Amino acid sequence: MKVAVLAETAAHETRVALTPSSVADLTRTGASVSVQAGAGAGAHIPDQAYRDAGAEVAPDRAAVLSDASIVLKVQPPDDEEIAALARGTVLVSLLNPLTDPRRIARLAEAGITAFALELIPRITRAQRMDVLSSQATVAGYKAVLMGADALHRFLPMFMTAAGTIRPGKVLVLGAGVAGLQAIATARRLGARVEAFDVRPAVKEQVESLGATFIEAEEEVTAEGEGGYAAELSDDQHQKELDLIARHIADADLVVTTAQIPGKPAPLLITEAMLDTMKPGSVVVDLAGESGGNCAVTRAGETVTHGEVRVMGPLNLPAALPVHASEMFSKNVVTFVREMIDEEGALTLDFEDEIIAATCVAHGGEIRNERTKQALAGPA
Ligand code: NAI
Repeated sequence: MKVAVLAETAAHETRVALTPSSVADLTRTGASVSVQAGAGAGAHIPDQAYRDAGAEVAPDRAAVLSDASIVLKVQPPDDEEIAALARGTVLVSLLNPLTDPRRIARLAEAGITAFALELIPRITRAQRMDVLSSQATVAGYKAVLMGADALHRFLPMFMTAAGTIRPGKVLVLGAGVAGLQAIATARRLGARVEAFDVRPAVKEQVESLGATFIEAEEEVTAEGEGGYAAELSDDQHQKELDLIARHIADADLVVTTAQIPGKPAPLLITEAMLDTMKPGSVVVDLAGESGGNCAVTRAGETVTHGEVRVMGPLNLPAALPVHASEMFSKNVVTFVREMIDEEGALTLDFEDEIIAATCVAHGGEIRNERTKQALAGPA
C-alpha cells in the first residue's frame, strides 16, 4: 500500500504533511511512502532526506499519486488537485469542513474518502493526532514574538546603570492551546501576563504558567462540547467586554486567540477599547481568519488605529515550518496508523470513534452531519 505526500500549492504555505523523521513509522507497517519532489523545500527538507529515510521521491504530482491508497496534505486540495485524485483514494488533510463545506461536496462527488484533521475528537487517545493543538502551539509562540518585535519598548525588566526598566504587560484573551503557549512565551520574555477565557477550567493552567487569571465580578462562562467554548449570551458578552475594558488600558501587548468552532470569532476588543490603549501598544489577533477578536482586525494586514497597531497574521504555523511540519507529521502518521491493519492493509473501521468523527466524505456521500448542515446554510 502506497502513502503519497503532495507538495503544497497554496500561497505562502511552507509546511509539508510528512517529514523524514516520520517515514519509518509508516514503512514499519509495510506501507511504502512516496513524496512529491520538492515537497519539503519550504521546511528546508531536501528530497535526499526523504530517500535516506526510506521513501521514494516522485518527480511530479501525477507520479506521486499513481497507485496511491492514502494521500497526505496540509492545506485542503484545490479543484485541480481534487481532479487529480483517483476515485477511492483516502485523503488526510486539513479541510475546513464547517467553513468550506462545498469543497467536501466536491470531494464526495469525486469519490474520495476524505478525513478532515480539524475534526479529530478531543479525547485522550487522539491527543497525539491533534493537529489543531500542535499548530496552535506554534501560532501562540510566534504571535508573542511578532508582537514583541513590533513593540517599541522592552518586555523584560532591566536593572541597569541607565536606570530600571519596568517589565511590559501582556494580556492574553482566550487561553486554549495557542493562548497558553502565548502566556508561556511572554513569561519567558519576562513580561507580566494577565489572561482571560470563558472556560473557568483554564484558570489553574494560566496560574501555573505564572500569569494572573482575570475574573469578572459575576461569572462569564460558556463551555461547549468536547472541551471547546460555546457562544456567550448577549448579557454575558457585555460583561466580558466590561472586564476586558478594565484591563486593556494597562497592556503593552494583547494577544487574542478566542475561537468557537464553526462560528465567527467572538468580538473581544472594540474600537472604544483601542482608544484607551497606550500609544505604541500592539494587538496580535490570531482569530483574523475567522473574523477577528478585534473590531478593526483585517486578516493578513496590520491596521493602525490611532497609535495602536493591530496585527492579523495569517497561517502563523507556516512561519515556523520546520517544527510545525515535524509536529503535523507526527500527528498525521499517528492518525493514519489507525487505518492500517496488522497485515499492512488499509482498513477503515467506521465504528472507531476517531475514524467516524473525522471522515467527511466516503462512498460518494458527505458523512459528517455538521458539514451537511453547513452546506445547507443557516437554519
Ligand atoms: P479554540 O482554538 O477553539 O479556542 C481558543 C480559546 O478561546 C479556547 O480556550 C476558548 O475557550 C476561548 N474562547 C472562546 N470564546 C471566548 C470568549 N468569548 N472569550 C474568551 N475566550 C474565549 O480552542 P483550543 O485552544 O483548540 O482548545 C480548547 C481546549 O480543548 C484546550 O485548552 C484543551 O483543554 C482542550 N483540548 C483537548 C484535547 C484532547 O483532549 N485531545 C486536545 C486539544 C485541546
